[in-house]
Amino acid sequence: MSHFSGSQHEDFRALNDSVRFDWRLGPYDVEQSRAHVTMLAARGIISERDRDELLSALERVGRELADGSFPFLETDEDIHMAIERRVTDLAGAVGGKLHTGRSRNDQVATDLAMFVRAHAHQAIERLGELGETLVERAEEHFDWPMPGYTHLQRAQPVYLSHHLLAYVWMLIRDRERFAAVVSACGSLPLGAGALAGVNFDTDRELVARELGFPRVAQNSIDAVSNRDFVLDYLAAAAVCTGHLSRLGSEIVLWSSEEFGFVELADAWASGSSLMPQKKNPDAAELLRAKAPRVAGHLTAMHGVMHALPLTYNKDMQEDKEHLFDVVDTLELVLAAAQGMLGSISFRRERLAAAAADEFLAATDIADLLVRRGMPFREAHGVVAALVREAISRGTTLSALTREELAAHSPLLDEQYYELLREGAWLESKVSEGGTSLRRLHEQLEHARSALQVQ
Ligand code: ARG
Repeated sequence: MSHFSGSQHEDFRALNDSVRFDWRLGPYDVEQSRAHVTMLAARGIISERDRDELLSALERVGRELADGSFPFLETDEDIHMAIERRVTDLAGAVGGKLHTGRSRNDQVATDLAMFVRAHAHQAIERLGELGETLVERAEEHFDWPMPGYTHLQRAQPVYLSHHLLAYVWMLIRDRERFAAVVSACGSLPLGAGALAGVNFDTDRELVARELGFPRVAQNSIDAVSNRDFVLDYLAAAAVCTGHLSRLGSEIVLWSSEEFGFVELADAWASGSSLMPQKKNPDAAELLRAKAPRVAGHLTAMHGVMHALPLTYNKDMQEDKEHLFDVVDTLELVLAAAQGMLGSISFRRERLAAAAADEFLAATDIADLLVRRGMPFREAHGVVAALVREAISRGTTLSALTREELAAHSPLLDEQYYELLREGAWLESKVSEGGTSLRRLHEQLEHARSALQVQ
């Protein structure tokens, strides 16, 4: 190019060229160029004839990119130059007019905003589908008791639907985060030129309308320096894959013989090459393991952008591989979670047996004492002593005698046994957001309508 006489070192090319990954921006680049060319002609900056020739070459390029026949050359540095080169091959000298009033700096920022916007929409859609699947699974297992855990120790019983809905709320928040990403992509960079604006009175509003941007970026310096929307996408993806990793992790545990709460469909498990009895939850394990990879890309991208002087710096070319890997990872794990959860089967008797553990009623006994006037802290101590006694004697809470109870507190009477007999610990959780079936009905409705929004 231009004032250089020597050719570039091959290692420099290997470092600097980006076409091996930024080819993915091709369709966005073509769409952008069509809008740009249309605007140039509308403003009389190029003739209508030039426009038509450019548009027809761009259309052909678009087709070539879509069907894989686009002829990439060794010498193509990035997708923007490859497309311009190809347009010139096809249309002749008029191809040189394509880049009028445009720089690769505002061009790449625009392609990228379009790419991120499209994939944020994709994430929103997949999150909605996964949310729907989990809501359906919650409905199917509405009143199946299971133990709830803290510290991975059995804590209080809940219904399976309650636990599944917990994930639905995470996904609903994820969807809100991706909706915020869409609005972060809303300012059109094109028209900023290299950094200072361009020497033509362009119509940026026209381009914005053509490309579906609600507004134009107000400051050309900011426009070409900005990669916030990439960071926002990566951040939303990091939180979302973090959620999916917790889901994956629970499925790994639940599918173990020790828990035995679920069985994976054959399509979502693998056998062992050595041990014939095994059914391995690989998909769930990978759901668990992908989250740090995404968080790593987010951290790396913060590293790329931090302390970077305005405006465009070649450092910013690094945004793409981080972004592309996260897009691919996120879309894959969302699809996998959807497939795995849609086909998993829950084992009612195993869940119920684990939930029938009497010690799960400890808080309920404490609350019985509270209702009889004992301060909660004191009641907690009394029940802890009961549990200790039962465990040390290898017995259960309901096997303790009236006399033994009386030694702990005179407030413990027949109702104590009733409470344990009833197994009514789930239905007593009547507070809003709690596990009683009445509250779960409410919650299911709320989750359903939250998923309907958007
Ligand atoms: N391939 C470049 C990138 O991805 C395009 C922008 C190049 N701009 C420049 N001034 N060299 O960032």
